[in-house]
Amino acid sequence: MSRRKLVVGNWKMNGMRAHLAEIEAIDRIADAHPAVEVGLCLPATLVMAASDKQGGAFIGGQDCHMNANGAHTGCLSAQMLVEAGATWVIVGHSERRQDQGETDAHIAAKALAARAAGLKVILCVGESLDVRDAGNAEAVVSAQLLASLPDGAAADWLAIAYEPIWAIGTGRIPTMEAVAMMHSALRAALAGRIGAEADKMRILYGGSMNGDNATELMAIADVDGGLVGGASLTAAKFEPVIAAAG
Ligand code: 13P
Repeated sequence: MSRRKLVVGNWKMNGMRAHLAEIEAIDRIADAHPAVEVGLCLPATLVMAASDKQGGAFIGGQDCHMNANGAHTGCLSAQMLVEAGATWVIVGHSERRQDQGETDAHIAAKALAARAAGLKVILCVGESLDVRDAGNAEAVVSAQLLASLPDGAAADWLAIAYEPIWAIGTGRIPTMEAVAMMHSALRAALAGRIGAEADKMRILYGGSMNGDNATELMAIADVDGGLVGGASLTAAKFEPVIAAAG
């Protein structure tokens, strides 16, 4: 099964209007690599300005509420992101699972809300260092994936991102063998739930992916792209990651 590689920058709480030129530079890199689907999940304050541009990388949000509207101070609905020009959204990032206490059930509901509004979704899962050290990371992350997976999950609107929490922003990554084992375990877990659709679904790796390790990571059979934090903040750092995907 050949799956088009998906490389997405997650800018987290970084980026001001002054960085719009950097976004345009990343757009030009995306245009130069048409075999790769490239996107940037930006702070909500930049989504509208960034999505006004032509072509290049798609623009996404980093979270959405599970409800369409209502008394939820500080939150954004999927419809609001769509109106601002987003076409994708991340749900279930470990920073939100930790900082905002989001559960698997919340994340499945957010993914469904995003889908209903017409957004595509990147659903994040990943283990803590304690779980990794205990030797049962595949079982724990597979269970987390199945618990957060929305009903009707399909490859044309959903991608998975495996992000070991201990690899995020630390410069440490699992061994290539560990990444391969995890991605293959996640695809098997998906197959148990959604059957043949699992073969089409993209499973991204995230956590300290950069220009030095992206080629090796992208070459793993079940790694279908990357969710990239720090190395997506400038065109110069993001370019080799995109190039490594094709
Ligand atoms: P880093 O690439 O900065 O480790 O962040 C990964 C991440 O959390 C992307 O969502």
